[in-house]
Amino acid sequence: MILKIYVLIVLGVLCPKGETADADNGKYVVCYQGTWATYRQSNGKYDVNNIDPFLCTHLMYAFFGIEESGELRITDPALDLGENGEDGYISKFNALKLQNPSLKTIAAVGGWNEGSRNFSIVANDPERRQRFVRSAVQFIQRHGFDGLDMDWEYPNQRHNLTFDDKNNFVTLLRELKEGFKPFQYILTAAVGASPATASISYNITEISKYLDIINVMAYDIHGTWESVTGYNAPLYAGPNDTTEASRQLNLDAIIKYWLAQGAPREKLVAGVPFYGHTFTLADAAQHSVGSPSSGAGIAGQYSGEAGSIGYMELCERMLTEQWQVEWDEAQLVPYAYLGQQWVSFDNPRSIGLKAQYAKDNNLGGVMVWSLETDDFRNLCSGGKYPLLQTINRILFEQ
Ligand SMILES: *[C@@H]1O[C@H](CO)[C@@H](O)[C@H](O)[C@H]1NC(C)=O
Ligand SMILES: *[C@@H]1O[C@H](CO)[C@@H](O)[C@H](O)[C@H]1NC(C)=O
Ligand SMILES: *[C@@H]1O[C@H](CO)[C@@H](O)[C@H](O)[C@H]1NC(C)=O
Ligand SMILES: *[C@@H]1O[C@H](CO)[C@@H](O)[C@H](O)[C@H]1NC(C)=O
Repeated sequence: MILKIYVLIVLGVLCPKGETADADNGKYVVCYQGTWATYRQSNGKYDVNNIDPFLCTHLMYAFFGIEESGELRITDPALDLGENGEDGYISKFNALKLQNPSLKTIAAVGGWNEGSRNFSIVANDPERRQRFVRSAVQFIQRHGFDGLDMDWEYPNQRHNLTFDDKNNFVTLLRELKEGFKPFQYILTAAVGASPATASISYNITEISKYLDIINVMAYDIHGTWESVTGYNAPLYAGPNDTTEASRQLNLDAIIKYWLAQGAPREKLVAGVPFYGHTFTLADAAQHSVGSPSSGAGIAGQYSGEAGSIGYMELCERMLTEQWQVEWDEAQLVPYAYLGQQWVSFDNPRSIGLKAQYAKDNNLGGVMVWSLETDDFRNLCSGGKYPLLQTINRILFEQ
């Protein structure tokens, strides 16, 4: 203990402050990277060599899969492993630690597309759980990761099985933590954020015992599945949030809920989006938040999914298109519209306010989804990685 404090003091003296992400000062910048962005065209193409290893404390490799048997699964062997198993994305990703030795790399299992069913089956069975623990340890060891991120979306949801996911998830995390102990591997999770969804999926007090970092996905709060325009990731409630339920739908309420349910402050990491949601206005003349929407809006020009757009894709469009940008003084996020198109997004100002919130509330730090939609090429003259740079500046500068 004394030695550890001594080491921290020495590091504090030797490391210049206000430079870049540094896990030793207790603030995490957790960065997800969706490896499939390597298949995007022109400016949208994002490769492992676009990662700046000094702007994150934890780099999350998204995603790996899980078999019903409990084996961890490589989802894109040609990309992940490369031709001979040694020159793929995984080995280049983990080699970033040669540039920044304090960087941690984490293998993320799951994600939206992996669904919930296989997790539920594995978590319910002792043998499958043990196979998963063994498989994860071997995988981390073989490829040189530092830990595992459980991205089960979500326990007790999105499948028709009748297992006790909530308690089984606790058991699975406990067994993972035990299996990781000899190697000191890091165990993290990305969690469904809002009280409505978290209360279905998690025993927060219990999962908090075994997780080193809890990445709270405080986004997708509103989106094109709703009939009116709404914010992807508001910081606070707004004047139109008049019901108990709608007052829960913002970062501040979400963090307060997780704290009240027993999650330790220093493990809680506020997730922020580097993308927005697009809507098509039913009437171009009604373009405030809460206006009627007829469905999904434009797709990002590189990411190609109607209803969602990367920050970089939007800022690039704004170079040539005359979007009207507004700022919501209550919920502290921007939105923009052009003709019948409406978009809720985050910019350096709103991301900075969320990072400041994490800092002021002594949270573990900030998580980002995801690196490949920041303006990593400086197309929009805000410097490379304007959103991620803002987070680093706020968390690490005095
Ligand atoms: C689930 O497990 C089965 C059997 O191991 C596998 O075929 C499938 O790809 C896994 N993932 C999903 C999303 O079904
Ligand atoms: C659950 O079952 C219903 C009815 O059989 C089906 O329509 C639905 O797609 C199933 N959901 C999932 C997530 O498998
Ligand atoms: C969480 O689990 C503990 C231990 O099993 C139990 O005492 C507690 O009531 C559970 N809490 C919730 C909210 O389910
Ligand atoms: C509240 O809702 C109304 C009607 O949907 C909308 O016109 C207005 O802009 C909203 N105000 C705020 C501050 O969100």
